[in-house]
Amino acid sequence: MEEKPQIGYSKKVMDHFLNPRNVGEVEDADGIGIVGNPVCGDLMQVSIRVEDEIITEIKFKTFGCGSAIATASMVTELAEGKSLDEALEITRQDVADELEGLPPIKMHCSNLAADALHKAIEDYRQKQAKTAET
Ligand code: FES
Repeated sequence: MEEKPQIGYSKKVMDHFLNPRNVGEVEDADGIGIVGNPVCGDLMQVSIRVEDEIITEIKFKTFGCGSAIATASMVTELAEGKSLDEALEITRQDVADELEGLPPIKMHCSNLAADALHKAIEDYRQKQAKTAET
């Protein structure tokens, strides 16, 4: 008999939850994005190192639940090595698809990581623009 995923979580979600990749904070990060989950109030932070417009290092920290941890772990894997423009195209839906689905009630948690990544990229670009001005 095929093993059923528990309470609607795929095996992939469980794997990323139990073994999250890229946890922590990039030292002297080039960009940091922080977002709050409007539903539960939990926070997600994504920090990035950028070299020649490529994300060479990315880490996350969250107070969020298992779904937030799993999606953030997934997002960091998707984004590492991508150009900033490619990383901006990582959508909430891509992440959910990549994780092979999440229970609908947890979709708001899975939005945090992609949103925080986009903010980190914005933060990097704003800092770059400021440096260029001076
Ligand atoms: Fe807060 Fe999921 S319940 S991030």
